Amino acid sequence: MSRSAHPAGPRYADVLPEGHYSGPPTDLNTLDPKVWARTVGRNTDGVATVGGLEVTRLAEEFGTPAYILDEDDFRARCRAWAEAFGADADVFYAGKAFLSRAVVRWLHEEGLNLDVCSGGELATALDAGMPADRIAFHGNNKSPEEIERAIRAGVGRIVLDSFQEIVRVAHTARELGVRQRVQIRVTVGVEAHTHEFIATAHEDQKFGIPLAGGQAAEAVRRALALDSLELIGIHSHIGSQIFDTSGFEVAAHRVIGLLRQIRDEHGVELPEIDLGGGLGIAYTPADDPREPHHIAKALHEIVTRECESAGLRTPRISVEPGRAIVGPTAFTLYEVGTIKPLDGLRTYVSVDGGMSDNIRTALYDAEYSVALVSRTSDAEPMLSRVVGKHCESGDIVVRDAFLPADLAPGDLIAVPATGAYCRSMASNYNHALRPPVVAVADGAARVIVRRETEEDLLRLDVG
Ligand code: LLP
Repeated sequence: MSRSAHPAGPRYADVLPEGHYSGPPTDLNTLDPKVWARTVGRNTDGVATVGGLEVTRLAEEFGTPAYILDEDDFRARCRAWAEAFGADADVFYAGKAFLSRAVVRWLHEEGLNLDVCSGGELATALDAGMPADRIAFHGNNKSPEEIERAIRAGVGRIVLDSFQEIVRVAHTARELGVRQRVQIRVTVGVEAHTHEFIATAHEDQKFGIPLAGGQAAEAVRRALALDSLELIGIHSHIGSQIFDTSGFEVAAHRVIGLLRQIRDEHGVELPEIDLGGGLGIAYTPADDPREPHHIAKALHEIVTRECESAGLRTPRISVEPGRAIVGPTAFTLYEVGTIKPLDGLRTYVSVDGGMSDNIRTALYDAEYSVALVSRTSDAEPMLSRVVGKHCESGDIVVRDAFLPADLAPGDLIAVPATGAYCRSMASNYNHALRPPVVAVADGAARVIVRRETEEDLLRLDVG
């Protein structure tokens, strides 16, 4: 396509208030390692590569849109978390971020545990051979069938989320002749500085049992009185995409306050404390996440200090990172379809996917970055909005980004940091076919979740 057929749209200098920005992006070609998976780079022709494979080849072989996942990066992040927390702590990968059989096998091989929150996730974990005692089962409304399946499978812990569930799990465990290990999830009243829909420890919400008003202490009382339950600890998850450990500090302080109350009232020191997941990642180069060893050090210090001052033995800590492990390891590869410059506003760049493969921008106002990956370009930066092909004006993948002004249909662009909560929240809206997940390792690519087909859609439509 010639450039004149696709006018460049407003120029950077025309649309940005003077003095407001330090200047246009000087280089649109560099793939910032802050947001791209570890093995991503460009070859001498300017084509982006991952694990040594050119994205143009991946697009030819697997089609677009596609999630491209760097397996080496995933495994390295698993090891970094496991090593940072050490032998006296447990890392549970939160499967809701993204789960598939291959992911379960990688977790198993790298020595991580797994947090599942539905029968489907449990089935995937068991099918791929995760030992049941390394699985934690979560959820605020587990069905009786899910509870039974989890107990029969022998899951290592069930995280109890309500008074009804204490009774349901105790009843099913008794029927099956099992003493089920459980934790109680409490809400500690912390307002995590994140989007309202992904903050989970303030009191006015559906998860957990509030510490406030003595409800959590009452839940502990009931659980301790039931023979078929072995209460191993207290669980707290304060939210997602959090950069700062101060929320965890308050949560640990309050959870340990409950542990002290339990010790004083029941003479029991619960051996475990789970601080949940929620550690943030870089979606754009402006984000500054902390490394696992910093987080581990901070959490260990907080828990040790709080326990010392409460006169308690330090419990075993567990954490449940999802996004921080898988998020940075993948990018979504799209082909540019149409380009519409709107005078004085911005240029709309439509790709062959959209809100069906990444709902996070529409749902949480999430920010992403984007780059031209099938070639480099020295053209001027063009203020762009990357949108999908759905029948909805909120179908935005990247709200504000700069792409080179010579962008043309057929170019490949990619959105980094889409490993978490993109494929796992993908939908068939407008009967879109959910993209495949292609794992790249050792210079080879393989499909770990295949692309949906029209036959898949029609198979469910039995009318
Ligand atoms: N543990 C529990 C009990 C959780 O509820 C969650 C996330 C995690 C661990 C993992 O959190 P992570 O480390 O991945 O932030 N769809 C939203 C995120 C919802 C998270 C729900 N629970 C998003 O796309 O941002």
